[in-house]
Amino acid sequence: MVKHLTKRNLKVRAVAFTIVTLLNLSIFSFNGLAQEAKLSAQAAEGEKLFKANCTSCHEMQNKATGPALAGVHNRRSEEWLLKWIRNNEAFRASGDKDAIAIFNEYNKVVMNNFESLTEDQVKSIITYFKEWTPPVKKKVEGGEGAESKTSFYSETTLYILGFLIVILMVVLYILRRTKNSLKKSYEEMSGETEEAAAPNEKMENLKKRINPTIFKMAIGMVVILALASYGFYFGVTEVAVQQGYAPEQPIKYSHKLHAGELQIDCKYCHSTAEKSKQASVPSVNTCMNCHKAVQLRDKYDGEISPEIKKIYAAMDYDAENQKYGDNPKPIKWIRIHNLPDHAFFNHSMHTKGAGVTCQTCHGPIQEMEVVQQYSTLQMGWCINCHRERKIDVENNPYYEELHEKIKAEKNNKNSEYGKYFTKDGKINITPAQNGGLECSKCHY
Ligand code: HEC
Ligand code: HEC
Ligand code: HEC
Ligand code: HEC
Ligand code: HEC
Ligand code: HEC
Repeated sequence: MVKHLTKRNLKVRAVAFTIVTLLNLSIFSFNGLAQEAKLSAQAAEGEKLFKANCTSCHEMQNKATGPALAGVHNRRSEEWLLKWIRNNEAFRASGDKDAIAIFNEYNKVVMNNFESLTEDQVKSIITYFKEWTPPVKKKVEGGEGAESKTSFYSETTLYILGFLIVILMVVLYILRRTKNSLKKSYEEMSGETEEAAAPNEKMENLKKRINPTIFKMAIGMVVILALASYGFYFGVTEVAVQQGYAPEQPIKYSHKLHAGELQIDCKYCHSTAEKSKQASVPSVNTCMNCHKAVQLRDKYDGEISPEIKKIYAAMDYDAENQKYGDNPKPIKWIRIHNLPDHAFFNHSMHTKGAGVTCQTCHGPIQEMEVVQQYSTLQMGWCINCHRERKIDVENNPYYEELHEKIKAEKNNKNSEYGKYFTKDGKINITPAQNGGLECSKCHY
């Protein structure tokens, strides 16, 4: 290898490195696409049948009247499933141990027989089980519009990456050609073969000036910087965006009913939202304050509401004899709002301290049948409010100290606190001016 070509070699390597990186990125984004991949035709058919016949008792991820069915194809053979689904009664009567065991495990609650479904139809349901993946958190709000919001995980990104790769391939090819033709012309000029090549002075000088190690490191730095800033941008705009996320909860608890129609104060249930960092979700005890009595029997022909029964089950409460058992278990509410661990957020600071209402951040919760994430919870969202909102230092005891400091410097517009007075003698200060943009305030 000719020594003086080292630099060009490096270029080639840098290009190759970039290509590999881009390839990785594109595979990464393709994974994102794959997650949202469509079911096969058979599984789609199965999904329809499943929704029409089974979802009254079954969910994929959670235990309902019947077991959660995600992964059931791994614990039962197809033959077993066919027999069970089409006629579990006959199957149990045939003495199948597993069938009897699961029946007993579910307190002998009888599952319907589905002999009306053909064998092929049941097979399509099984195919649906096989192809089923946990739902990608859906963006409910804004419907169609929200769906089409540009995302890193979009086909466009994939095409752009593909396009870049093609361009880089071409560049690589041209570099190769240039290298070879330069090599050739150099050999022709000097009339020497590769092996015998005498050190060319000019090239030697250049090489001395550009230390290859430093050159390598420089390229590395540029690439790392580019990737890091992209990662930063990506994190700030894309990561964990779950606006509109509205999972189905284990009990059909409605804020519209309780906080809206019944006008129960938010703090009755989320008592810590003004006192501490977290705005905890209430324990079942809180529900029992009312639901020990409110059973809605009128609505269900004298029976206790099935949803209220779930509260009793969680409390291990025997409504007929009004006795508590000793095996209560908390209701597993699915958490909706969730900041990444490295971000710090404090409820009491915002609600009690700064006087921001729950609805400013959470939207009209009292109108929601099912709670959904109303705001993006992205860094930009926090920062925007910190820039725009005024702090009410005059009427909020929380800011007494700050208010005093500002008042004391009223006549000095250029001082640290005096500058918050506007021309007409009012105080105008935003969280941003009070340190609300400092990284360390929000990041551990
Ligand atoms: C009326 C309620 C009900 C309906 C409707 C229902 N199931 Fe079930 N299913 C159950 C119960 C309860 C069990 C647990 C065993 C038992 O008690 O019979 C069960 C068990 C199962 C099992 C066994 C799970 C395991 O872990 O072994 C499968 C598979 C199953 N059901 C599939 C279906 C499919 C498919 C449908 C729709 C075609 C369906 N079920 C409709 C109530 C129901
Ligand atoms: C009777 C009790 C009760 C009242 C009153 C109530 N909530 Fe809730 N809240 C709950 C329960 C239970 C959950 C968890 C289940 C759910 O998400 O629906 C919850 C969930 C939430 C969540 C989502 C928590 C998460 O997982 O991220 C928010 C936000 C919320 N409530 C805000 C409010 C606001 C604002 C009000 C007043 C307008 C209010 N709640 C009134 C019981 C209550
Ligand atoms: C301050 C009293 C009160 C509290 C606390 C309360 N509820 Fe209710 N809830 C009611 C009333 C009253 C109704 C019935 C409204 C009606 O007449 O339809 C109701 C209805 C319901 C229903 C509808 C049942 C059905 O079948 O229609 C569910 C589910 C429910 N509550 C769940 C909960 C849960 C879960 C909690 C605890 C997080 C809770 N409630 C706390 C008063 C309360
Ligand atoms: C300044 C915006 C803001 C205000 C005001 C606000 N919240 Fe929140 N809320 C958030 C954020 C951000 C999260 C997610 C916190 C996390 O993941 O650490 C959250 C989470 C929650 C949760 C889930 C449990 C938790 O603490 O993580 C509940 C419940 C909740 N809020 C209820 C309320 C209620 C009730 C009020 C009014 C008294 C309120 N919030 C006011 C921004 C706000
Ligand atoms: C609707 C407006 C609003 C939103 C949204 C909001 N904040 Fe704030 N935040 C405030 C106000 C007002 C203050 C009080 C400013 C002060 O005391 O200096 C504050 C104060 C703070 C402080 C204390 C700053 C200090 O100087 O001590 C932190 C930390 C903070 N917010 C974090 C967050 C985070 C993290 C988010 C996003 C998840 C967020 N905030 C979203 C309005 C908001
Ligand atoms: C007002 C609060 C606030 C301030 C100030 C703030 N951040 Fe953030 N930052 C957040 C929140 C909240 C998130 C999480 C956003 C999300 O989940 O999408 C975040 C996310 C990030 C991320 C993305 C990390 C990831 O999840 O991939 C980076 C990087 C970051 N912040 C850096 C900074 C830097 C640097 C500063 C100072 C210039 C800063 N932040 C100031 C609230 C803040």
